Amino acid sequence: MRRTVIAGNWKMYKTIEESIELINGLKPLTSNLKPNVDVIVCPPFTSLAIASSLLKDSSIKLGAQNMSEHDEGAYTGEVSWKMLKSAGCEYVILGHSERRQYFGETNELINLKAKKGLANGLKPIICVGEKLEEREAGVTEQIVSAQIKGVLSGISSDDMKKVIIAYEPVWAIGTGKTATPLQAQQVHMHIRKLVGQLYSWNVAEGLVIQYGGSVKPDNAAELLAQDDIDGALVGGACLKADSFSSIIGSAPAR
Ligand code: PGA
Repeated sequence: MRRTVIAGNWKMYKTIEESIELINGLKPLTSNLKPNVDVIVCPPFTSLAIASSLLKDSSIKLGAQNMSEHDEGAYTGEVSWKMLKSAGCEYVILGHSERRQYFGETNELINLKAKKGLANGLKPIICVGEKLEEREAGVTEQIVSAQIKGVLSGISSDDMKKVIIAYEPVWAIGTGKTATPLQAQQVHMHIRKLVGQLYSWNVAEGLVIQYGGSVKPDNAAELLAQDDIDGALVGGACLKADSFSSIIGSAPAR
């Protein structure tokens, strides 16, 4: 049975002081996780090291929000896999729609980053999702298929065990508009079938596919109850300990 993985993407929020406060608030609220549930927090780079030391005695795992495709070198402003690992990260979000939209990230670049992370012991949470005009034009599945094929190119079946896919319809991110559980389920099922064709049914069955886009305490349970929705990538609602822990609590016990 697949695990349910709830990740919080803090985006460009929280100073070091605010990060300490949020983590200290979250720890007591998440001390009794259901056995099938994993929780990941993804603070900004500047808070990773302190988050890692605060989380040592908890079951919350740590991820970053981005990573360079290079090992090291003259790449001003970039952060490497080695730096993320030494800061205590186990996961890294890659190809978030905000990275695609504002920083020009392409499927090819995201694929390079994913392979770099996998080769060096980081588990990527790779984001895909259609824009509003694409959904309205009825091409959601084609867009998502092209993204999946692009970002997974050259990744082995074995490495797929460490990959998480996050389906985040761009029109639902930060807008308060959530995909209905049925709309999300349909795309998740499509992704799982496609991964089955690209790899094997075994790989597809084991793949954790998170939903992201305005996940809140009041809609999380219904989304997480869908057969192919194996978790959530939460933005706005993860910035407060009580709303994030209430989403975590909505995960069905499996
Ligand atoms: P949101 O963000 O929950 O604020 O819509 C989700 C995300 O961007 O990962």
